[in-house]
Amino acid sequence: MKVAIFGICGKMGQAIGRELLKEQDMEIVAGFDIKGVGQDIGSLLGSEKTKTLVYDQYDAVCKQSPEVIIDFSIADIAVKTIHWAIENSIHIIVGTTGIDQNDLEQIRIKAESAQSKVFIVPNFSIGAMMMIKVASLIAPYFDGCEIIEMHHDQKKDAPSGTAMLTAEQIEKSKKFGQARLKGFESESAEGSRGSFLNGVHVHSIRLPGLLAHQKVLFGTKGQTLTLSHDSIDRTSFYPGVVLAIRGLKKLGHYTYGLDKLIEIEG
Ligand SMILES: NC(=O)c1ccc[n+]([C@@H]2O[C@H](COP(=O)([O-])OP(=O)(O)OC[C@H]3O[C@@H](n4cnc5c(N)ncnc54)[C@H](O)[C@@H]3O)[C@@H](O)[C@H]2O)c1
Repeated sequence: MKVAIFGICGKMGQAIGRELLKEQDMEIVAGFDIKGVGQDIGSLLGSEKTKTLVYDQYDAVCKQSPEVIIDFSIADIAVKTIHWAIENSIHIIVGTTGIDQNDLEQIRIKAESAQSKVFIVPNFSIGAMMMIKVASLIAPYFDGCEIIEMHHDQKKDAPSGTAMLTAEQIEKSKKFGQARLKGFESESAEGSRGSFLNGVHVHSIRLPGLLAHQKVLFGTKGQTLTLSHDSIDRTSFYPGVVLAIRGLKKLGHYTYGLDKLIEIEG
């Protein structure tokens, strides 16, 4: 499989690239970034020279004939890249978060008639995906649910894509609330009760020292149940990236969420 990594000079691009270099059946044929243009990808990733380069032009990437793009860049660029990938019949797996719902809907429509596949994956961590699946199973047995998501202080978007996906999936098994504030509630400081997505309150914490963490708290009479997941190293996302690449053949033209490749009895 010929792979191009977009955002290859970033934290995720480099972490995933270093692991991908070790695969026997995958080859990084190009990188794309505004930084490190012209650099040898092997050298960039602290390995032997690969004679494959980082580009900042789509045409130059196209000439390397990638079969699949892995994108860890920024939302605006990811949207542009997805449209370009569809138009050039290249599969694209998108890890970049913060893509607007309207953009995703336009992409979904365009992908339906495409030759290639679009796979949007807000979280590649298999543990986090398990947490989402289990949360959906637990939800019907509880009266309330709130999510606390915690990330490093360089993260641009909030709430996290994982928290949004969790709330969306929970709502499919139980709708917990209709409004952010109940009739008797008030906030002395704006936003104290967090954001409100699909009937679930979501609280976002950004601090140096964190990477990617989430707790899903359920409550009912006399008891609480907490699911907790921690990504403590960026390599935690790699098994999910490989699962996504190898699982592409099982997917339709547009897929959202790694959970679609994880089967769990429920
Ligand atoms: N899906 C997941 O599991 C997962 C996990 C971690 C991070 N992420 C997401 O991945 C994205 C990247 O995260 P990061 O920590 O690597 O960020 P980063 O800032 O370290 O890397 C982003 C890269 O994109 C490049 N870039 C910026 N503008 C560009 C442009 N116009 N053209 C080309 N390249 C450009 C930057 O130069 C940089 O190298 C974020 O959206 C983050 O939330 C997703």
